[in-house]
Amino acid sequence: GYAIRARQLLTMPQEAPRLAEYGDGGEERDDAIVGLIEDGCVVVEGEEIAWVGPWEQRPKSARRGDMDVFETAVAMPGWIDCHTHAVFAGERSQEFAWRNAGKPYVEVLEEGGGILTTVEAVRQASGQELTDALVRRAFLSVRQGVTTLEVKSGYGLTTADEIKSLKAVQRAQKEVPCELVGCFLGAHAVPEEYRDRRKAYVDLVCEEMIPQVAKGGYAAYCDVFCDRGAFDAEEAERILRCGQEHGMVARIHADEITDAGGAMVAAKVGASSADHLEFVNQEGIEAMAAAGVVGVLMPAVNLFLGTIDHLAPARDLLNAGCEVALATDFNPGSAMTQDLGTILMLGCTLYKLTPGEALRSITAGAARALRRTDIGGLRAGARADVACFDVPHYRYLTYHFGQTHTEAVIYRGNFVYW
Ligand code: NIG
Ligand code: FE
Repeated sequence: GYAIRARQLLTMPQEAPRLAEYGDGGEERDDAIVGLIEDGCVVVEGEEIAWVGPWEQRPKSARRGDMDVFETAVAMPGWIDCHTHAVFAGERSQEFAWRNAGKPYVEVLEEGGGILTTVEAVRQASGQELTDALVRRAFLSVRQGVTTLEVKSGYGLTTADEIKSLKAVQRAQKEVPCELVGCFLGAHAVPEEYRDRRKAYVDLVCEEMIPQVAKGGYAAYCDVFCDRGAFDAEEAERILRCGQEHGMVARIHADEITDAGGAMVAAKVGASSADHLEFVNQEGIEAMAAAGVVGVLMPAVNLFLGTIDHLAPARDLLNAGCEVALATDFNPGSAMTQDLGTILMLGCTLYKLTPGEALRSITAGAARALRRTDIGGLRAGARADVACFDVPHYRYLTYHFGQTHTEAVIYRGNFVYW
């Protein structure tokens, strides 16, 4: 084994501390949110964390001179990008320019462009091409400190092309030093050939795609895009329940472009997360809080679509008692970025999160969105995924954006980037 000694160790407790106890207690409250240990130590044995605590109290094994010690400024759980569409082919810079010339995202989609443009490219791409592109992208994320990357299908929209995409995720897994978490999003858009038969497409998703994806073990999560131009609340509920019957965890793209009732569907079916939420209503927020649904917010979308005038109500979600996660939503149409560090900054400026809340949201919060307890926190028994940063204070990570600050990235106990 070896030890990591950090000037600031952020453990990220699984349960958010009761914030009320801190009043508006500023930095002290933030230190509690991140589970700060000044001069902290993590002892790694194999792929797991064996011990976490103050350096002064480290176990005997770590006091002997023969245990390697890696010293760093700030160490925290490896980052989790819990919502991406990173398995895709082609690009859509043309559509980006159109949008900036005045054409809204949803109009492009309804006219058969947008998502469907990428669907064309993915159908034409080989599994190997998709795999290679994803491998390259995953390495970029790892350099920032990401050790778990969720990846959705949803640009195939046939049984074979959806499975091709999810298989590409599994193939890429063998070549990248981070975990790739596949998520089935067959209900991302109604494909062109089903334009006038949307019910038949929902049938296909439920009767053919979900059973095959579940049986083949291609994804443990089932997602649906519930919005204008995509699927309505009733269709979304049917698809998510079907996924659940096949043992998949439900997630949902909810209320991104319109208030389509997605948050209520998430609460009703017991989804692990509802993502986007720009147009969520108060009833939806309260239902999510009561059902323990994590709100996954992706501010790069607003920046990229030019819609920063209508943001997800992050503080309302937190006040209602929801766990919040931030993610990139990396995709070629609405958020062409893998830069989770910039997302941290946007979480603070646009959503008014504190530095601690922002950092918690890409570790403990994101782990909860994936219903995972082995990642997202530094504690004995957790997987040894640790991101180490050369910064003067943890809050600096939310402030100096557009740069990577990683000193080392440890995945399953191995130094994979330094
Ligand atoms: O999360 N909202 C739906 N899906 C993606 C966009 C995908 C695309 O435009 O290619 C999103 O924003
Ligand atoms: Fe998305």
